Amino acid sequence: MMASPRWCFVNGKIVSVQNANINVRNLGLQRGYGVFEFIRMYGGVPFRLAEHLARLKNSARALYLSLPISAQRIERIIGFLLEKNKIGEADIRILVLAKNFDKDAKSFSSDICILLEQPHTYPQSAHTKGIKLITKEHQREFARAKTINYLSAFHDHIRRLRRGALETLYVSNGKALECTTSNFFIFRRNVLITPRRDILLGITRKFVLSLARKYFVIQERNIRLQELRGASEAFIAATNKEIMPVIKIDSLRIGNGKAGVNTKFLITLFEDAVR
Ligand SMILES: Cc1ncc(COP(=O)(O)O)c(C=O)c1O
Repeated sequence: MMASPRWCFVNGKIVSVQNANINVRNLGLQRGYGVFEFIRMYGGVPFRLAEHLARLKNSARALYLSLPISAQRIERIIGFLLEKNKIGEADIRILVLAKNFDKDAKSFSSDICILLEQPHTYPQSAHTKGIKLITKEHQREFARAKTINYLSAFHDHIRRLRRGALETLYVSNGKALECTTSNFFIFRRNVLITPRRDILLGITRKFVLSLARKYFVIQERNIRLQELRGASEAFIAATNKEIMPVIKIDSLRIGNGKAGVNTKFLITLFEDAVR
């Protein structure tokens, strides 16, 4: 396993992670007000970087956060950090945390950090055998923005551990929305259905839909909870999880309780496309 990257970027400077700091008055720290991006790399190249940076801009705008750094500059900093840390591949985290309210600009100034992290992996069985989800009545605030607020997600960690679940599926008003850190999909035979409203529009979600479009009928629409009973397959998708089949949601077995054929086919398509 690679050593933990030593150098990061904070507000215009390259500093060692150990000595990196932001002011204790930062509103991201004090109030949890901020947005971020999380990007992974394949073959030494950040995956869908332009899309992640476009989403970062939209997330910042949604929260009236100033983002005084261009996408091109962020791209150059990532390249520089990889060189400086002498690593070919890492996970990339970009934080934009509110500093204080700027009355004239009518927006929040922000602290910006760019960090490289050791790639996070999950057991292979999560992709081959599938995973369990538990549900929770919840809808993320400012759902379209990738905010740093993961209170509900982290709070549910103990419950997930007890129940052997990898993710919590947020449900609201009788609809399945998304998971704590991934998007949710079901198959009804050859129809692939995934929500579009009140969720974070995942970069992986978009990529999976683009791969699936050639082979399946796609419906981007609400998924009612009653529909889960009729689902032949289900899966989740996210940057750090790629595609994971879902075999159980609470006590409901999905399909025959094994990773579905369509999902396995999508996993193969995904792997061929990225590796
Ligand atoms: C709430 C939520 N939904 C969906 C996703 C998946 O998004 P992406 O595919 O861009 O990683 C994430 C990723 O962290 C998330 O936090």
